[in-house]
Amino acid sequence: MTNVTDQDRVVIFDTTLRDGEQSPGATMTHAEKLEIAELLDEMGVDIIEAGFPIASEGDFKAVSEIAQRSKNSRICGLARANFADIDRCWEAVKHAGKSRIHTFIGTSPLHRAIPNLTQDEMADKIHETVSHARNLCENVQWSPMDATRTEWDYLCRVIEIAIKAGATTINIPDTVGYTAPVESADLIKRLIDAVPGADEVVFATHCHNDLGMATANSLAAVAGGARQIECTINGLGERAGNTALEEVVMALRTRNDIMPWHTGIDTTKIMHISRRVATVSGFNVQFNKAIVGKNAFAHESGIHQDGMLKNRENFEIMRPEDIGLSGTSLPLGKHSGRAALRDKLETLGFDVGDNQLKDIFVRFKDLADRKKEVFDDDLIALMTLDEAGDHLQLVSMKVTCGTGGQAESTVELEVDGKDVIATEHGDGPVDATFKAIRAIYPNKTQLQLYQVHAVTEGTDAQATVSVRLGEDGMIATGQSANTDTVVASAKAYIHALNRLIMRREKTGPGADAREISYKDLT
Ligand code: KIV
Ligand code: ZN
Repeated sequence: MTNVTDQDRVVIFDTTLRDGEQSPGATMTHAEKLEIAELLDEMGVDIIEAGFPIASEGDFKAVSEIAQRSKNSRICGLARANFADIDRCWEAVKHAGKSRIHTFIGTSPLHRAIPNLTQDEMADKIHETVSHARNLCENVQWSPMDATRTEWDYLCRVIEIAIKAGATTINIPDTVGYTAPVESADLIKRLIDAVPGADEVVFATHCHNDLGMATANSLAAVAGGARQIECTINGLGERAGNTALEEVVMALRTRNDIMPWHTGIDTTKIMHISRRVATVSGFNVQFNKAIVGKNAFAHESGIHQDGMLKNRENFEIMRPEDIGLSGTSLPLGKHSGRAALRDKLETLGFDVGDNQLKDIFVRFKDLADRKKEVFDDDLIALMTLDEAGDHLQLVSMKVTCGTGGQAESTVELEVDGKDVIATEHGDGPVDATFKAIRAIYPNKTQLQLYQVHAVTEGTDAQATVSVRLGEDGMIATGQSANTDTVVASAKAYIHALNRLIMRREKTGPGADAREISYKDLT
């Protein structure tokens, strides 16, 4: 719970569903957004920025439903500095037990030039729009976008106006990831000292990671007096991303001796939500990513392994259990029963009902027949990757590879209940397979991303394949896991196609694409 009277409490404001989802290709479905919001709420995130309600009908619906379902978190929506945006935002967030309107405008010389406003005209606009937001909602956040490149005097002037107009939180965005830790701390401290009324509001920090300093800049801002950190799971976000929630939360917890501030986050939920965000966004986490990377708690070298066995503190500053990793990874096999499977799934953070367990048990047995040992990561892949949807389904496939790189692929698909077969040649088995699928289901989609990850070690490891397709401004990501990489590729491609077809049907061409591009924001 947000408690601004506790001076050492840092409010966690998560913007995975707004700034994170805004990054090209990270589009999530409505159901996925609801699921992530529920996980954020359960893990103790104080404020969830659930979307940008005026950007599209889809964003509006998602923010409204997240607001209706919220339990403890405050639900926030983004709005530009105009009445239409703010009204639409309020319509969506007002359903929450606790709501917030977040309105912003670019205040740096470069950003002021976009709407072509003078300093005075912009100051008036800020006064009008923040007052309007405050008349609707008692909790209003205001951001001077590109604050770190805004002239000092003007920044102080507009923050004072926003506070007088009723803003309750002042966010200082480092929109282009330009600042550095010393400057970040100093800026917040000087603003709190200089701006009249600053002690009546919460100062927030919102950093982008263009120079790899987002986490350091956010923590420095807290040292300077900020008490809200804006962040995303896995650091998802535009360009190099936003501050990673898991990094700031674990840094505050692990080095509380020198950073004596705390958050309300249940850190044992970190790993599960990290995996879910990676899956639904299609943005895999790099292996050596701090806290949530696959190797973050792996010790490969003999010296390290020996040291770990003697005393884990030799090489670990955090315990894997603290972020929800089970620590041990005892594999299941084909003789394991339903109870063992349910028990393992629960340790991994999946609450499964009896029917779901039945279904997943069949898939687990199928995998265990093909693999000697089924590891935690294999199970996570099974749980999180839904099968290809309704319209197109893979019936069978046969691939022949030649030594010169040429390959032939025969694919049989069920297309709306009818079996269709095609054979194509290509530059390697995946290319030939994708061509065969296109021959069966001709489409104008463009392949924007193709990524393969081995989920566990060994030649019988499951490969997780992500495929991102784009068509007329719509983007869909498909994923699949299989011990055969080419089968996983075909299924991921079909999964993405099914998602595109579903969106096309539901919303018509272009409806799922953002109507307002981030670059157009004024
Ligand atoms: O980076 C940024 O400036 C933003 C604002 C909308 C707060 O995301
Ligand atoms: Zn941002």
